[in-house]
Amino acid sequence: MNAPTMQGLNLNAPSYVKNARLLAWVADMAALCKPDTIYWCDGSKEEYDRLCQQLVDAGTFKKLNPAKRPGSFLAWSDPSDVARVEDRTYICSAAKEDAGPTNNWMAPAEMRTTLQPLFDGCMKGRTMYVVPFSMGPLGSHIAHIGVELTDSAYVAVNQRLMTRMGKAVYDVLGVEGEFVPCMHTVGAPLAAGEKDTTSWPCNPKVKYIVHYPETREIWSYGSGYGGNALLGKKCLALRIASTMGRDQGWLAEHMLILGVTNPAGKKYHVAAAFPSACGKTNFSMLVPPEAGFAGWKVTTIGDDIAWIKPNADGKMLAINPEAGYFGVAPGTNMHTNPNCMKSLDKDVIFTNVALTDDGDVWWEGMEKDHGGQLPGHLIDWQGKDWTPQIAKETGAKAAHPNSRFTVAAGNNPALDAQWDDANGVAIDAFIFGGRRSTTVPLVTEARTWTEGVYMAATMGSETTAAAFGAQGVVRRDPFAMLPFCGYNMSDYFQHWLNMEGKIAATGKAVPKVFCVNWFRKDEAGKFVWPGYGDNMRVLKWMIDRIEGQAPGQETMFGVAPQYTEINWTGLDFSAQKFDAVTSIDNAAWAEEFKLHDAHFEQLAYHLPQALLDTKAALEKRLAA
Ligand code: GTP
Ligand code: SPV
Ligand code: MN
Repeated sequence: MNAPTMQGLNLNAPSYVKNARLLAWVADMAALCKPDTIYWCDGSKEEYDRLCQQLVDAGTFKKLNPAKRPGSFLAWSDPSDVARVEDRTYICSAAKEDAGPTNNWMAPAEMRTTLQPLFDGCMKGRTMYVVPFSMGPLGSHIAHIGVELTDSAYVAVNQRLMTRMGKAVYDVLGVEGEFVPCMHTVGAPLAAGEKDTTSWPCNPKVKYIVHYPETREIWSYGSGYGGNALLGKKCLALRIASTMGRDQGWLAEHMLILGVTNPAGKKYHVAAAFPSACGKTNFSMLVPPEAGFAGWKVTTIGDDIAWIKPNADGKMLAINPEAGYFGVAPGTNMHTNPNCMKSLDKDVIFTNVALTDDGDVWWEGMEKDHGGQLPGHLIDWQGKDWTPQIAKETGAKAAHPNSRFTVAAGNNPALDAQWDDANGVAIDAFIFGGRRSTTVPLVTEARTWTEGVYMAATMGSETTAAAFGAQGVVRRDPFAMLPFCGYNMSDYFQHWLNMEGKIAATGKAVPKVFCVNWFRKDEAGKFVWPGYGDNMRVLKWMIDRIEGQAPGQETMFGVAPQYTEINWTGLDFSAQKFDAVTSIDNAAWAEEFKLHDAHFEQLAYHLPQALLDTKAALEKRLAA
């Protein structure tokens, strides 16, 4: 044990922790936050079990029926703390222009002055957990280490499932290695002798999710939920990593990565960006339709984030920096996502789903696995009685729409053999997709890299429960990165445009770029496209395009499939329905381009001219 370095509080550092900067930082932060004790996580199973039991004792966790859901727990959050808080999320770069118009910004010095009194004493009465983690395979040249200091045991156990967390990180870190310091507090200090009156301590009023890109620091105050609190995820692996990628020539993206193998055994890798709660986890675990797709297989490399580096051979190599899934529960069932359901059989942390009378979990959509039969009685995510009758009368949801499961990647039966490969997999195609009831067709292929960047840069999507605020409102969500880009969005567009030249310099071609929309609705408000496993039909068309097997047809917005180019075996989907999901409504697109105009006006500073030129070319096609 290292000697105590602070008045009254023992640093408690294990002897295997040798990184001087880390030890000094933990001492400084403990002096600031004033926890009762410091606990250094080693990442062991024994520790995980112990912390989970502690959470059970504190009332934060309910242990689920081990006969139904072995090794699993359920947490219910404070009703004020159920999603990411975008309006409380800041990029505090030295220059406001570097944060750009899409990020909240405050000068670093001003933000530090704001946070200082909030963090002073914020962990009183609590334990400060030191959580070391690697984003990416331990020791990989692509990986980055973070250390999260948190007063939430819930965060510590979630991080063990979501990241490579524990003692081995210190071997990689060594004496002088670099790490991203991630400060987290629920912002609910306890006075001497005071006990928690809630099982989900947080600060219902004050929240700050702050990033200092230049010094690569994260400071999160007031929330214990998801991306606000599991700081390796959106904060480090996207906001901070995107600025690293800008500086070092790589990409940190809000993308799933999947492998798709055809019956001949040839394997392709696809990275796809969809906004929050728009289908990444589902697409990454896709099970191809039984009929017509014998021999096709999809395997998961990642379900949310991709780090992509171009190499000297002109390959764009992608890794999943995470080690687990923090996925949306509602809508998940054996019909929509059987691989996901199987992943959830055991060793899961559920947050904000409903509790059944026999100690299992339930969420909206699970009735599909029981012939449409709803459970007679549940305890909903707020701890209240729920019955089908109550739901009918009040509209109460048993599970919160943003309720989630946390599970290690190892639970996924469709996990790709290369998911942990330190070198990553070579990306053959990029897909961008939003949630749009109208206007945007099922699938088109960009004619050029620049056109693909345009499609991604102007992508719109209806807002979901994954973030606090109004839902179902169309907003521009460029590259599905609106809440996650750590620097000026227009510079980010240029960074993407530059990739083409980098790859071309090696004599290779850039991957193809596709734009998709699974979410077009009919007049009755029903999704027309069946989605989920049937998205394989679209994925196969993309592979056919890569292989030069499908001629496609020109449209204003890229190359689309002809009806006959899609494998329809086993699905009754008429040419009329196909038209309903693929048609391009000229009037709607004239309106859509006005939205692109407004978007580009907002992003005028450093907006690449190539995007304005592409827009002019598309509008000319529309007029023709
Ligand atoms: P985050 O984890 O928030 O980033 O979300 P995600 O992009 O991983 O989305 P996810 O796959 O969890 O899907 C979110 C919601 O959309 C769930 O309720 C799904 O059931 C639903 N969904 C996913 N894919 C499809 C699809 O192809 N069609 C339809 N109609 N719904 C889908
Ligand atoms: C998202 O909102 O995109 C999520 C959930 O994946 S969270 O981790 O809370 O950001
Ligand atoms: Mn997801």
